[in-house]
Amino acid sequence: MPGTINKDNLTRLIAREQERFVQSHPASAALHERAQNSLNRGVPMVWMARWAGAFPLFVTSAQGSHFTDADNRDYIDFCLGDTGAMSGHSPAPTVAAVSAQVAKGITAMLPTEDSIIVGEELARRFGLPLWQFTLSATDANRNAIRHARHITGRAKIVVHDWCYHGTVDETFAILGADGSTISRPGNIGAPVPLDQTTISVDFNDVAALEKALATGEVAAVLMEPALTNIGIVLPEPGYLQACRELTSKYAAVWIVDETHTLSVGPGGWTGTYGLEPDMLTVGKPIGGGIPCGAFGMTHEIADKIAVGVEKDDLDVGGIGGTLAGNALSLAAMRATLTEVLTEGAYKHMIELGTAWADGVDAAIATHDAPWHCNRLGARGEYMFSPHAVRTGAQAFAAGDHGLDEFLHLYALNRGILMTPFHNMALIAPTTSAADVDAHTAMFNEMLTELFA
Ligand SMILES: Cc1ncc(COP(=O)(O)O)c(C=O)c1O
Repeated sequence: MPGTINKDNLTRLIAREQERFVQSHPASAALHERAQNSLNRGVPMVWMARWAGAFPLFVTSAQGSHFTDADNRDYIDFCLGDTGAMSGHSPAPTVAAVSAQVAKGITAMLPTEDSIIVGEELARRFGLPLWQFTLSATDANRNAIRHARHITGRAKIVVHDWCYHGTVDETFAILGADGSTISRPGNIGAPVPLDQTTISVDFNDVAALEKALATGEVAAVLMEPALTNIGIVLPEPGYLQACRELTSKYAAVWIVDETHTLSVGPGGWTGTYGLEPDMLTVGKPIGGGIPCGAFGMTHEIADKIAVGVEKDDLDVGGIGGTLAGNALSLAAMRATLTEVLTEGAYKHMIELGTAWADGVDAAIATHDAPWHCNRLGARGEYMFSPHAVRTGAQAFAAGDHGLDEFLHLYALNRGILMTPFHNMALIAPTTSAADVDAHTAMFNEMLTELFA
């Protein structure tokens, strides 16, 4: 009989942890109070109001895999800016390169040699020869979608149910109960009903993917090789191969988003397992925290994009951003890719990611918790389901906001930050075995109280 959670006990524990959080963070509380006057909901972006606890922590400094808050408390950071700081906070080579570039010119609307070095490095890692740069992974996805529409003359894109690819209108689609494509809850201001732009399909459902592509309306399939934003959902054997084959069969563009799955290896899932997408998007960690994004493509795609576009019109294609490809972002990407997120760093990150997940698995077994832990190289995640799930909807159904609130507060009150909104941990080159052991000890302690 697996362990069970007594609801009264959970309610008592959440209240205790909330109280402890408020008591031990007076400076963050005061800053949050002051912020009500100038920031909507007291935060720079409203999603920051969703952190566990009465207010978010205000950060004063971050270095490597730790940060300090306004109350002078130190934390082990397993969130790492939800991958934006997968390199560790302020890695020395990136700081040096960025500092030098700041003094030499930040943006000139002209290329620098760094752009070539970064393009060559991305080509080496992901196998796609030609690259373009943006300021975010969101923009990389938007641009890739736009190119796919231009190439195919078709309007729709296919995404997976409960995917996340940034703030891209077309991607906030889920499957309705009747199998139609509908807007995701919380998606505000959609320009048109989602079924006009998107077909949502279950992850790992080859038949549904083929049915969507067979409509002849699909410009592109945009997907992560493993879902990472609704809990980790891994592809079943043969699924990614089917995605390649079916997109080719129906002449749709296969866009692989490696922004989070870059945790699998230096070339993400694509480089590690030899995927051959038509386009690839990435962002967040490749600049060590400096805003950046990139999308790569085959020569065939580049040739098709060029058709019908006159040189005089190259600046009006809906693909742009004056600051995209700026010298500062490229200096950051060059240093981060060539000196920080190296093969050697990945060896360490994946070893510790495995140790983190082993610790979680052992604790789950000890306490007979009906949970399991998924692994994605330097990333791991616990989910409130006894087995791995195969679709985004199943992952969503396994979610539990009360438990999330408790877990995150329990960890925060003991100096550990997990990725919010689900229970993910990421390992940086600077994460230590002691950091991982501290999480394992905290996790065991927490399960002891929860399954008492
Ligand atoms: C897979 C994936 N793609 C794209 C993005 C968008 O990144 P950004 O918000 O930096 O544009 C995210 C953000 O979480 C993501 O998880």
